[in-house]
Amino acid sequence: MKIGVFDSGLGGLVILRALIRMLPQYDYVYFGDTLHMPYGEKSPSAITKYTQESVGFLFRQNCALVIIACNTASATALKHLQQQYLPKNYPDRRILGVVVPTLEAVVSQQKKGVIGILATNATVRSKAYPRELRKLSLKDSIIQIAASELVPIIESNNRPAMNQLIRNYARKFRDFKTKTVVLACTHFPVIVKSLKRQIASGTTVLSQEEIIPKKLAEYIRRHPELEAQLSRKGRKEFFITKRMPRYKKIAKSWFGGTISLKTARP
Ligand code: DGL
Repeated sequence: MKIGVFDSGLGGLVILRALIRMLPQYDYVYFGDTLHMPYGEKSPSAITKYTQESVGFLFRQNCALVIIACNTASATALKHLQQQYLPKNYPDRRILGVVVPTLEAVVSQQKKGVIGILATNATVRSKAYPRELRKLSLKDSIIQIAASELVPIIESNNRPAMNQLIRNYARKFRDFKTKTVVLACTHFPVIVKSLKRQIASGTTVLSQEEIIPKKLAEYIRRHPELEAQLSRKGRKEFFITKRMPRYKKIAKSWFGGTISLKTARP
């Protein structure tokens, strides 16, 4: 059986690339719901519906485990999927999100000071990051900046607009005396370098592709029964729900090589 990686679009390819680097032996299926992207400005019920359909598609592709790389979907839909959808439909499969593993990595740094979250409007509205942080640590505080406006700007590679927004976010994080910033959106690895340049020295900027592969490796180690189910041919398949001319180029730069994107509807 395979490992599924889900994102609302193609940003999750950055996470998949990092997963393959650390765990190249497994077979992966990627699913990007490009038809409904951006999720970050949709209602919780729409996000949950699209995520459930996408995860269902990945399970039908014989995935034993699905990683929801999309922060918006993890923050909004994961609980419902784990508590209602899985037990009813796929009781022997698993779904993992990115919010809790990311916060575990942040807390384990044991760095004093405010934690900053840069995420989509829907992720911020869900309050998943502050809620999950309280379960892990009572001494750390968190501030969130909603940055859905950055998503289309990254997609269209509009550098001047991107730099302007990054300067504004960096200023806000400085004002809040933020000591760790988490790029909590699959599109944001693209801005890591410029944000690091703009932000106060001494502030750590964390991108999820540095966190999730280690967390997945640990999870698989802790679950030998899952490990035993996973096939090891190093195969990769990529599905999107809507084809657009520029996607080939974006996929190439974010995944780091030419890939064949198939169109599918869940
Ligand atoms: N994939 C989304 C996330 O990680 C960002 C793009 C969107 O709004 O769909 O939150």
